[in-house]
Amino acid sequence: MAFSSSSYPQELTFPEGFGWGAATAAYQVEGGWDADGKGPNVWDTFTHQGGDRVFRNQTADVACGSYTLWEEDLKCIKQLGLTHYRFSLSWSRLLPDGTTGFINQKGNCFLKIEGIDYYNKMIDDLLANGVIPIITLYHFDLPQHLEDQGGWKSGAIVEVFDAYAQFCFGTFGDRVKLWLTINEPNTLALLGYEVGIFAPGISNSGTGAYQTAHNMIKAHAKAWHSYDSLFRKKQNGQVSIALFSPWIAPANPTSVADQEAAKRVMALSLDLFAKPIFIDGDYPAVLKSHVAAMSKKQGYPSSRLPEFTEEEKRMIKGSADFFAVQYYTARLAKHQENAEGELDILKDIDVKLFIDPSWQVSQQGSWVRVVPWGIRKVLEYIKDTYNNPVIYITENGFPQGDPAPLDDTQRWEYFRQTLQELYKAIHIDKVNLQIYCVWSLLDNFEWSDGFSSRFGLYHIDFENPCRPRVPYKSAMEYAKVIRNNGIKGPL
Ligand code: GAL
Repeated sequence: MAFSSSSYPQELTFPEGFGWGAATAAYQVEGGWDADGKGPNVWDTFTHQGGDRVFRNQTADVACGSYTLWEEDLKCIKQLGLTHYRFSLSWSRLLPDGTTGFINQKGNCFLKIEGIDYYNKMIDDLLANGVIPIITLYHFDLPQHLEDQGGWKSGAIVEVFDAYAQFCFGTFGDRVKLWLTINEPNTLALLGYEVGIFAPGISNSGTGAYQTAHNMIKAHAKAWHSYDSLFRKKQNGQVSIALFSPWIAPANPTSVADQEAAKRVMALSLDLFAKPIFIDGDYPAVLKSHVAAMSKKQGYPSSRLPEFTEEEKRMIKGSADFFAVQYYTARLAKHQENAEGELDILKDIDVKLFIDPSWQVSQQGSWVRVVPWGIRKVLEYIKDTYNNPVIYITENGFPQGDPAPLDDTQRWEYFRQTLQELYKAIHIDKVNLQIYCVWSLLDNFEWSDGFSSRFGLYHIDFENPCRPRVPYKSAMEYAKVIRNNGIKGPL
C-alpha cells in the first residue's frame, strides 16, 4: 500500500489485538521512599545530597504518592481503558540492601512482606480489570548498598541482579508474563556513569559508559537464561530489555561521510546493546575498531571498550524474546574528528551531533524535539537490522512545562502524528509492532528536571497533599484511540 499524506485513509485501524499501554517507574511515582523498611536507592541518595543536581533540589520522597494512592492510579488506567500497564519494581523496597541473602536469612521478614504485598495488589488489581502488567525489574533505582560495592562498575553485580530477577520471577511470575530486565541501560550507562548527571552521579568520561554497559548486558543475559531454564516452562512468559533509541539522520543527507557518521551513532546508542543480545553476542565491529584505535592513540594498554569472552558471547546471543524500544526524539550527525565540546564517546566515533532548528520544541529547553517521523525510521531500522522481530514500544511521549494546561491540544497533535507514523510502519513497512505505551500515565519526577517537566496523561498538583489525578485532553483522546483501536474521523 502506498499513500501520500493527502490521500490518507480517514480511519486508521490498528491490527486486532494491538496493545495500548502507558508506563511509569517506581522512583518517579511511588514516593514512600523509606516506608515500611524500604532501603535507600541511588536516587534517594542523589536527591538528598542537594547541590542543584536536580531542578530546585527536588526529591521524589513523595512524588505522585502511588505507594499509598495505587487505587487512584488504577482509576486512571481504567478510565483510559489501557490493555497494558508498564511499571517497575523498586528493588530496595523488595530487598532493602539489594541482596536476596537478607531475605532468605529472615524467612518471614516483615520488610519483605510489605514490598511484596504492594506489588501483589497492583498485579492482582490489573488482572482483575483485564489489564496486562508489563514489569520492569530495574528502572534506574539501584539499591544504595549495591552502589556502595561498586554498582554497575563491578562485575559482581551480574550475579546479584540475577538473584533479584529470580526472586521476582518466582514471586510474581505466576501472574506476570511480560518482563523487562533493565530500563534503558544505554541512558543509564551514559548519564549515570559517563556524564554523571543521573544517579549515582559518576563522571568517568571515556570509560564509564562502556564499563557499565558491559556489566548490564551480562546481567540482563544471565537473568534471561534463569527465566528460560527455571521459569519459562511453568510460567510461559517473555523477557526482554528496554532500549532507548533516538533516530539519527545525517546532517547533510547527500554526504557519504555524514551518512556513515549517523550509522555510527545508531551503533553507539542502540546496537551496542541490541547487536550482542539479538544477533551474535558481540559489539558492532565499527565501534570495536574506532574505540580501540582511539584508546591506542590515547596511550591505553587496551581498548576502553571491554571484550566479551566466547562463553559470554554464547550466553548473550539470543537473550531476548521481543524487541522493546523507547523513542522520544531525533538528532543529526556530522562526521567530525575530535569535535570540540562533544562527549568523549562521540569523539571515539568522530561525530558531532546537532538539532535541526526546524524541529518543534515540545517544552522550552527540553531535550525532546518533536520528530514523529523518526519513530517510523527507528522501527524500520530495527526490522531491517534485527530480522523483523516482534516490537513493543515501551515508552514514547512529549513533555510540557510547568504549569501545564489541561487543554494540551498541541501535545495531542504530536501524539496523533506519532500514531500515523506507527500506522505507516505497520501497514506500509510491515513492521511487527504489537504494543505501544505512552510515557507516562502520570506527571511524575522527571529525574534531573524534577517536577518541571510533565510527561503525564494525567496532571498532578505536587503541592496538594492528596495529589489529585486530573486528565489532560490527551488522556481523553488516547482513551478514544484505545476504544476505537486506532483513529476514527477526520485526520
Ligand atoms: C526515559 C526514561 C523515563 C522517563 C522518560 C522521559 O528515558 O526511561 O524514566 O524519564 O525518559 O524523559
